[in-house]
Parts: sequence; structure tokens; C-alpha cells
Amino acid sequence: MDRKSHWERIYETRQPTGVSWYQPRLLRSLELILACAPPLGARMIDVGGGASTLVDDLLTLGFHKLAVLDISRAAIAGARARLGPRADTVQWIEADVTQAVLPACGFDLWHDRAVFHFLTQAEDRNRYRGLLAGTLAPGGHAVIATFGPGGPERCSGLEIVRYDLPGLARELGPAFETVEGRTETHRTPSGTPQEFVYGLFRRR
Ligand SMILES: C[S@@+](CC[C@H](N)C(=O)[O-])C[C@H]1O[C@@H](n2cnc3c(N)ncnc32)[C@H](O)[C@@H]1O
Repeated sequence: MDRKSHWERIYETRQPTGVSWYQPRLLRSLELILACAPPLGARMIDVGGGASTLVDDLLTLGFHKLAVLDISRAAIAGARARLGPRADTVQWIEADVTQAVLPACGFDLWHDRAVFHFLTQAEDRNRYRGLLAGTLAPGGHAVIATFGPGGPERCSGLEIVRYDLPGLARELGPAFETVEGRTETHRTPSGTPQEFVYGLFRRR
């Protein structure tokens, strides 16, 4: 099954609150985003946002230049339906992050929780890195979360790559400096602990 079909099937058959990565609110992500002290007009993109409520919280905080990119049409439809009329102020992009075309220097903040770690092929990671570097304005920030070294080896039935903070920084390359990192023990809806590593990086 190809990547897109996999994710469409997940979102068509599972409740958003039942998937292993579900969190009612992405609090660790919010902490790191707010640590950058972005102005309310900061242009932010949530890559692989899925059905997460990060966009809801960012809108509530007053951020108003938001985009959500996801490979799954069903995920985007679910998030839009949840937001109701507030969804109309968000730019929704149905695309594979390894193929997407985004405006150069078009964003000040890039968020990715549990997407980069699915890129097991170096070629895909190179494309991701190229898109990130080209899309973030100089001085912009990226918050990227993956499974940590003690985390699971698979997610959603797919192989993943686990990272520690220096490993994640190495993947992003010299165009990014590490600002800070945090770990989180995420509990899946069934109560299984999963180690996540969060990195906050700054585009030089
Ligand atoms: C594990 S979920 C995480 C969702 C969300 N970030 C969260 O923390 O709740 C991974 C998400 O990335 C999306 N995704 C997976 N591969 C992708 C790709 N190559 N390009 C864009 N989105 C992708 C999936 O559809 C899914 O919504």
C-alpha cells in the first residue's frame, strides 16, 4: 500500500482520539512554539498536522497566519469539520511533505510532531530538509518531534527512525542551530508509554 493510501485508510477507519499518537492538546509543542515568542502575525505551518488540535490552540492564542499540511485528505477534512467556521482562516494543504512545493521563505515557524521519523529513506529526508530550509525564513524556527532512542521502532504499523537531539540536529544540517530540546513520555490511549524527543531549531 502506498503512503497516501495508508494514511487515508487510518483516518477513514479510526477515531482521531483512538490513534496511538493522540493527545488532547499538543502541550509540549505549544511550549516550544511559545518559547520562540512569535508575534501573532507569525506565519506558521504544521506539517503532518493530521487531526491534532494544535491549530485550534494556535488560533485561540490569536495566531492568524496558519497553514496545516497533511498527506491525508480525510485527516484535513476531520480537522476542518472540528474547527467549523474557524477553519476558513487556515490554509489547508493536502500534500506529501517529500513532494510539496511551498513558497520560499514563506513561513516563520515549522512544526512537525511524528512525521519526519517516518522518512526511512535518505532521499526522502533530503527532500524534507530541502523544503524546510527553503520554506523557513532566516531566523525562523522549527519544532520537530520524533520517537526518541527508547521509543518504539514502529508507528502506525510503519517502520520509523528514532532520534536523539544531536541526531536530529545532524539530519537538519548546518543551516540550523539547536536552541533546545525536551523529552516527553507520551501515553497512548491504551496507556503504553512512548518516548518522544522534541527539538527547537533556528534557521541561521
Ligand atoms: C503520527 S501522525 C501525527 C499527527 C500529528 N502531528 C499529531 O501529533 O497528532 C502522522 C501524520 O503525518 C501525516 N503524514 C505521514 N506521512 C506524511 C508525508 N509524507 N507528508 C505529509 N504528511 C504525512 C499523516 O497523515 C498523519 O496525519
